[in-house]
Amino acid sequence: MRRWAAWCGAALAALVVAVPAAQAAREPEVFLGAAMSSDMRPDQRRDAVRNFSAITTENAFKWGEMSPRRGVTDFSVTDRMVAWATRNGLRIRAHNLFWHRLQLPDWVTGVVRRSAAPRRTLRRLMVSRARKVAGRYRGRIAIWDVVNEPLALTGPGWDAGDVFHDTLGESYIDLAFRSAHAADPRARLFLNELVWNPALGDPKAGALLALVERLKRRHVPIDGVGIQVHGMIGLAPPWFPESTATLTRYLRALGRLGVDVEVTELDVALPLLGPVADPLAAQAKAYAKVARACARVRRCTGLTVWGLRDPDSWLDTDPTTRGRAPNRPLLLDGKGRRKSAYRAVVEALGERRR
Ligand code: XIL
Repeated sequence: MRRWAAWCGAALAALVVAVPAAQAAREPEVFLGAAMSSDMRPDQRRDAVRNFSAITTENAFKWGEMSPRRGVTDFSVTDRMVAWATRNGLRIRAHNLFWHRLQLPDWVTGVVRRSAAPRRTLRRLMVSRARKVAGRYRGRIAIWDVVNEPLALTGPGWDAGDVFHDTLGESYIDLAFRSAHAADPRARLFLNELVWNPALGDPKAGALLALVERLKRRHVPIDGVGIQVHGMIGLAPPWFPESTATLTRYLRALGRLGVDVEVTELDVALPLLGPVADPLAAQAKAYAKVARACARVRRCTGLTVWGLRDPDSWLDTDPTTRGRAPNRPLLLDGKGRRKSAYRAVVEALGERRR
């Protein structure tokens, strides 16, 4: 019975990882992705190809990674990752063009704040990065996270000290998407946001809906919205989706604005589950709750987890969560073996085809 269940899981996995063309024509495929670190160790490369149909570049495309100094853009890592993923038939989500919160090089803020014409200076820097970076990979990137986490961490507002918003107001988002579209007209352009409680009625979730509505009204070329869903603070509202039903309703509300949606950075920290008899089974349930919502929403085109093997997870090094390490929040264990959560996600995504 056990072996039979394992076999079924593997068969289902094969189906989701590579949905046959005929199926894909009837129903849009749900890509199953993982974030891939810049070093791309051989085990990581193997894990990605065996278990996933898409990757997101975890850090490689971030402004500070490519251009730690002004006037320098290093393409060596991104060139390698894009070539490798393309060769292996993995869909690429390039993450990200603009993000105020982390991994923005200090020189950007410095140059803008010192400029006599800060608005013009920032606009030029943004257009130049979009042209250089998105332009270089034109036609090879399926999805760009054009703007990452524009809203404040919690609540409906914006961050003070956000150089983009402080300088250009919301119009920086319009400029980001228009420049990315000019640089790579065929890439699907996403806004990616950390929404702890993606539910109608939640203040931050509501602010995101309103923002997307304004962007669409201004004819900004936005194709999709990514919802991060990091289970790193708590696994119940207001820190995690309450249920498949609430998440489904929220994703559909986004879809009605005329955008596709994806779950982009899912992880579920094991220690947060508390004293339960079978923590891996409980973790699988939390994963399935989210994956099932994506399967049920026609405009949900992908679900991505934030890392490959458990020990690679950013939660074990991030200052807010490293105290709980090992968080074991991903779909593959330390040896690259599929956890119960992997099988649960694959099964849940399989609902798309039923
Ligand atoms: C994280 C990476 O995983 C870490 O390696 C890095 O040190 C910091 O950034 N939201 C995002 C991602 O959009 O880019 C972040 O990735 C995790 C939170």
